[in-house]
Amino acid sequence: MNKQPIGFLDSGVGGLTVVKEVMKLLPDEEIYYIGDSARNPYGPRPLSDVLEFTIQLANLLVDQGIKLLVIACNTATVAALEVLQQRLDIPVIGVIESGTRAAVASSQNKKIGVIGTQGTIQSNEYEKQILKLLEDAEVQSVACPQFVSIVEKHQYEDELAKSVVSKELEPFLGSEMDTLVLGCTHYPLLQSIIQDYFGENLTLIDPGVETAIQVQNVLSKKDMLNKATEGSKQHIFYTSGPADKFEKIAKHWLKRSDIQVQHIAVEELQKYGR
Ligand code: DGL
Repeated sequence: MNKQPIGFLDSGVGGLTVVKEVMKLLPDEEIYYIGDSARNPYGPRPLSDVLEFTIQLANLLVDQGIKLLVIACNTATVAALEVLQQRLDIPVIGVIESGTRAAVASSQNKKIGVIGTQGTIQSNEYEKQILKLLEDAEVQSVACPQFVSIVEKHQYEDELAKSVVSKELEPFLGSEMDTLVLGCTHYPLLQSIIQDYFGENLTLIDPGVETAIQVQNVLSKKDMLNKATEGSKQHIFYTSGPADKFEKIAKHWLKRSDIQVQHIAVEELQKYGR
């Protein structure tokens, strides 16, 4: 079991922000990833659709022999974490619990902001989990629906990204929050623009960092960490969108040239809907 890969799924390239943290912390682990860019964005979809798609992506990875699954998407975590934890025989980790823990640990004044997709924000999942750990916290949650398409289109370094970020973050004007959770895995690609907008006094939480620690803890507890430091790793990336577009963003974000991406059609994914 130890040499088997860790699986990651997302609606597109966003989960790469979690992969990046896992690669940093656990460089001996092999990564299998599926990004459903053809059906992106998941944020505005009914959670029942997101659940259906997430089950397909998870089954594809399970059939490839992964030893642990990371739902590297907040919207899919809301829609499918409990179902997949019940259905699968391997450990399944989402990103919301770790993002919550990191935010609560970071905030001094207990005023915490959350940004995410419509699905995540409407579910109120972050607020519920934050209040469980810190009952007198003040949480302001804002959906930023345009961020995901900017990232998927590889426009996250363009001038356009700056104006979209300023517009979507306007609801926080006058806010006294000291901590903001990037509650969508696509958003860390916009992290420096978001940080510039708010200034250095605001702490941004990338749940990927804490999720990587959780992956390490679970694997270590079950004695499932890959101890084979020798030999090259065979990471595999699938996308239901164009492979070249995904590869460009993955190479740029992960700062690696050895990224191989394979296209998988939506019709193929639908066969995993058992
Ligand atoms: N990256 C995803 C998330 O963390 C979803 C983005 C989307 O497809 O709307 O919520």
